[in-house]
Amino acid sequence: MTDLSSRASDIFTDNHRWGDLDDWNRAALDLHDQGGIHRIECDGFDPFWAVIDHAAVLEIERQPELFTNGPEPVLTDRNGIESRTMEIKTLIHMDAPQHGKYRRLTNDWFKPASVRRLNDRLAELSREAVAKLEAAGGEIDFATDIALPYPLQVILKILGLPEDDFPRMMMLTQQLFGADDPDLQREPPSPEVVGQVIADFYQYFTELTAARRAEPTDDLATLIANGNIDDEPMPDLETMGYYVIVATAGHDTTSSAMAGGMHALIDHPGELAKLKEDPEGLMANAVEEMIRWTAPVRHFMRTATEDTEILGQEIRRGDWLYLSYKAANLDPKVFDRPLVFDIERPNADRQVSFGYGVHFCLGAQLARNELRSLFTHLIPRIDTIELAGDPATMKTTFVGGHKTLPIRYTLTP
Ligand code: HEM
Repeated sequence: MTDLSSRASDIFTDNHRWGDLDDWNRAALDLHDQGGIHRIECDGFDPFWAVIDHAAVLEIERQPELFTNGPEPVLTDRNGIESRTMEIKTLIHMDAPQHGKYRRLTNDWFKPASVRRLNDRLAELSREAVAKLEAAGGEIDFATDIALPYPLQVILKILGLPEDDFPRMMMLTQQLFGADDPDLQREPPSPEVVGQVIADFYQYFTELTAARRAEPTDDLATLIANGNIDDEPMPDLETMGYYVIVATAGHDTTSSAMAGGMHALIDHPGELAKLKEDPEGLMANAVEEMIRWTAPVRHFMRTATEDTEILGQEIRRGDWLYLSYKAANLDPKVFDRPLVFDIERPNADRQVSFGYGVHFCLGAQLARNELRSLFTHLIPRIDTIELAGDPATMKTTFVGGHKTLPIRYTLTP
């Protein structure tokens, strides 16, 4: 453990630091020089341990009974915790034995063999994305016009929701995750606003549950609406939490990886050229590197249930730990030249952007398929591409990435 300057430690707590990712990455590398775990004491927040060491993140995730997700799985300041007006209960908020029971309900639905049946829809969406680029005639905002809508269309498909509901779902997912970014708000951030967004969600999904109970189909919403836990129907709070996690966890995460991946290719023309040369051979690894590079879920928190030790550092029962997926992906002990975007990186698949262990991202395979499909359709058509302005990233400490990525391009016929 080291004494940190406030500038080093606030990369975890100050949402503005996420507005400059290069600066954030450099700060994270400096922290790696000083150790793999750091005590963060910052005004307004309960103290916590920031874990940035790759192996330590895995070690913690491997012991879900010693390090629980409850009671606070996401970094929230004291004011936010104390003034919370609405309860929300998703897989992320659960621990054993409840978590396993709820996860089993949809686990098979997300397995690779199962999500493969969505591939036709992904190909269709990817063709539509290319058509949008053709129609835009050479300049577009890749983040808002391509990356943001794509994964939301996929969520509509897996939940079996009509295309007409796209705008409402877009607003809801944006509000929930973008809540602490000044540019993405309807109103100033307040617990009431967040509560209102969640209430909107609840109303929408209450109607959906009733519809799927009356008329079951083969979509994920039917599985959730009719799910039994211990032979009893799932309670309302948990049913809503299930929709919320699928809708939100599958959206900004994947779109951030898409836009961040595109930006990385623009910034590294040599990598783009290699990918154009051999899209089939390099795509899977390139996508893995994009996911390492972007780490759209910046962190999750764990709470120690016993006194223990991590990297030789004493951890007391009740201590809060911040698992920094972003910084762990830059651990120089694991990733050679971590600040280089290298689509042929031999161990890119050791990225921890999807977490690890019992909470490992349920949608990981789906997200990979979405990225592979989009870039497989897009890359061979790109003749030239460059930035058409300064991109901006979301100033949020939880899930984020590019909110704008203006590009100028020409396409091959
Ligand atoms: C690049 C895209 C994505 C990233 C980076 C990502 C990342 C994550 C991370 C870090 C976790 C927590 C893992 C842990 O605690 O160990 C998680 C959990 C989860 N993700 Fe994803 N995710 C992505 C896409 C998706 C998609 C497309 C879906 C579904 C449509 C999804 C659904 C979920 C669910 C349901 C959980 C909760 C799992 C649990 O607690 O058991 N994610 N994701």
